[in-house]
Amino acid sequence: MPTAIVTGGAIRIGRAMALHLAGKGFDIALLYHSSETTETIAEIQAQGVQCRGYAADLRKLDEAEAFIGKVLQDFKNVELLVNSAANFIQENIEQTQVETLVDTLNLNLMAPYLLMREYKRKVNKGLIVNILDERVARTVPTFAAYSVSKVALQHLTELAAVEWGETVRVNGIAPGLILPPEGAPPDYMEKGNVRSQGTLDDLLKALGYLMENKHVNGETLFVTH
Ligand SMILES: NC(=O)c1ccc[n+]([C@@H]2O[C@H](COP(=O)([O-])OP(=O)(O)OC[C@H]3O[C@@H](n4cnc5c(N)ncnc54)[C@H](OP(=O)(O)O)[C@@H]3O)[C@@H](O)[C@H]2O)c1
Repeated sequence: MPTAIVTGGAIRIGRAMALHLAGKGFDIALLYHSSETTETIAEIQAQGVQCRGYAADLRKLDEAEAFIGKVLQDFKNVELLVNSAANFIQENIEQTQVETLVDTLNLNLMAPYLLMREYKRKVNKGLIVNILDERVARTVPTFAAYSVSKVALQHLTELAAVEWGETVRVNGIAPGLILPPEGAPPDYMEKGNVRSQGTLDDLLKALGYLMENKHVNGETLFVTH
């Protein structure tokens, strides 16, 4: 059976992707940080595939660098990496704390960078999907460090696709609003400058397209309108 690695796989979008991939017959290596994973892992295993959770703090780059090697000790046939873990901190440039800047760039950009590099070095086949944000194409003046991290991750996606040809395809999915942040106020849609809300199913269809179409490389699929 092929294996998919999903970061941020314990909750929300990452979890939906992990469950979806399990339904397609993938064993799942699920990276989590602080979430309880027992139920999610049981739900994945109930689909008749293997699933193992790996705790890591991707703000720590040594943990990011070691992760693919750890997975390969347990799963031999890795074919897919989904980089979904990210933070989303609402500070504009003027408000940005040093801690926000460092954590955001480490978690949302440098960790995927190192995961991709290790995937190329150690797996060297299949597909990487980086979860971006529609903000890579829209200049929205909040979540500044987050926006910068996602724009850079999109560039990295394109760069890796060119560098690696088609040994490892690398694509991005750029969602608009799918799930409001936990604890978001009722007026989040208006205040967050959101035009419309998509569904998890819209995202899963985008993932399916990138998996099935082996001739798509270096693209960003926007799931928003
Ligand atoms: N929600 C949306 O509508 C939306 C829109 C556009 C783009 N996106 C993108 O889609 C992806 C998923 O979004 P989401 O809303 O589902 O995210 P979320 O609910 O904020 O979850 C964040 C995920 O990142 C993981 N994470 C946080 N800090 C971590 C750390 N230090 N080390 C390792 N993992 C860490 C969390 O793991 P634990 O739970 O285990 O701590 C969690 O699984 C993100 O890349 C986001 O930028 C989402």
